Amino acid sequence: MLDQYLNRITQGDCLTLFQSIPDNSIDITFADPPFNLNKKYHSTNDRLALQAYLNWCERWLNEMVRVTKPSGSIFIHNIPKWLTYYTAVLNQTAQFRHWISWDAPTSPMGKTLQPAHYGILFYTKDIKQHKFYEIRYPHKRCRKCKILHKDYGGKKSLLHPFGPLLSDVWTDIHRIKHHKYRDAHPCQLPIHLLERILLMATDEGDIVLDPFSGTGTTAIAAKRLGRQFIGFELDQEYATIASTKLTQEQFHSKLGASWVSIYLDQIITLRDQDWTQLTAYYTQPKTAEDIDTRTLTIKPDNYAASLFDRLHE
Ligand SMILES: C[S@@+](CC[C@H](N)C(=O)[O-])C[C@H]1O[C@@H](n2cnc3c(N)ncnc32)[C@H](O)[C@@H]1O
Repeated sequence: MLDQYLNRITQGDCLTLFQSIPDNSIDITFADPPFNLNKKYHSTNDRLALQAYLNWCERWLNEMVRVTKPSGSIFIHNIPKWLTYYTAVLNQTAQFRHWISWDAPTSPMGKTLQPAHYGILFYTKDIKQHKFYEIRYPHKRCRKCKILHKDYGGKKSLLHPFGPLLSDVWTDIHRIKHHKYRDAHPCQLPIHLLERILLMATDEGDIVLDPFSGTGTTAIAAKRLGRQFIGFELDQEYATIASTKLTQEQFHSKLGASWVSIYLDQIITLRDQDWTQLTAYYTQPKTAEDIDTRTLTIKPDNYAASLFDRLHE
C-alpha cells in the first residue's frame, strides 16, 4: 500500500492522498502547512476565511494522527496563532509533548509585539511507546574570542565538551535568507531544522510523511539521514523541484557509525548516545578551561575531511 508513495514526492491534494495511507503505518509525520497569510504560492489560495481554514486544518491534522504509528510522533510548524487552534484538535487524539519555540524573525503584525518565533508542536500518539533521543548542540560562543556565552552558574567544570542538551527553545538555526540558497518557493525551511527533528524522533530506515512538501526539505533531510520519506505536494512546479533535488542528493550525513546534522562544516545536532563514538573524530579539550575558551574541532583526518568535501560537492 505504502510502496507507491515511498521515497518520492507525489503531486496531489494531501487530503485525497492520505486516504491511501493505512492507519498506524508511519513513524513520524511533519507538517508545515500554508499559514493563510496570503503568501504568493504558485498555485494555492493562501487566504481562506477563518472558519474554512480551521475546518481544513482539522481534517489533515486528524489524518496525521491516524496514519502515525503508536510509537510515532507528530510535528506541526506554524505561527503561534494557528497552533493555538491546532492544540485543541490534537489534544483529543494525541499526547502533547512540547511547544518548541524556534527563534526566527517573522513578519510584523501591526500594533502588537514583534513576532520573533515560530512554534513547532510536538505530539506523540502513545506516550508510553514513543521514540525519543536526547540531542546535543554546540556551545554558543563569542564570535571573536570564542569564549562561552553562558557562565553556567560557576559550574563550567561540569560542562559537556560538545555542548548542552537541547531545550524546547531553538536559537541556533536560522531561516534561509539569501535568494542564492533558496528555491523558487516563498517559505522553504532549512534542511538542518528537519534533520534535528528526525535525529530526535526516528531511527535509520524509519518513514517520515510530510503532506505539504514544498520543495522537498523534509524528504532531503530524510534521505541525508538514511530515513525513508513520503512527500505530498499540490503544486506540480514545487513537486518537480523537489524530485529533481532528491535525484541529485547523494550526501550521507554520517560520521563513523553515527548520523549527525551538519551546517557550515560543523556538526550542529548529534544524539547524546553517539557522543562516545564521535569523540574519536574530535580533538579533545584537556581541561574545563579548554572547553570554556576553545571551539571543539574535528581532527583533520581523511575521513572527516571527506565527509565535509562531500557536503560541498
Ligand atoms: C509552507 S509551504 C511548505 C514548505 C516546505 N516545508 C519547504 O521547506 O519547502 C506549504 C506547501 O503546501 C502546499 N499545499 C497547499 N495546499 C496543499 C494541499 N491541499 N495538499 C498538498 N500540498 C498543499 C503548497 O503548495 C506549499 O508548497
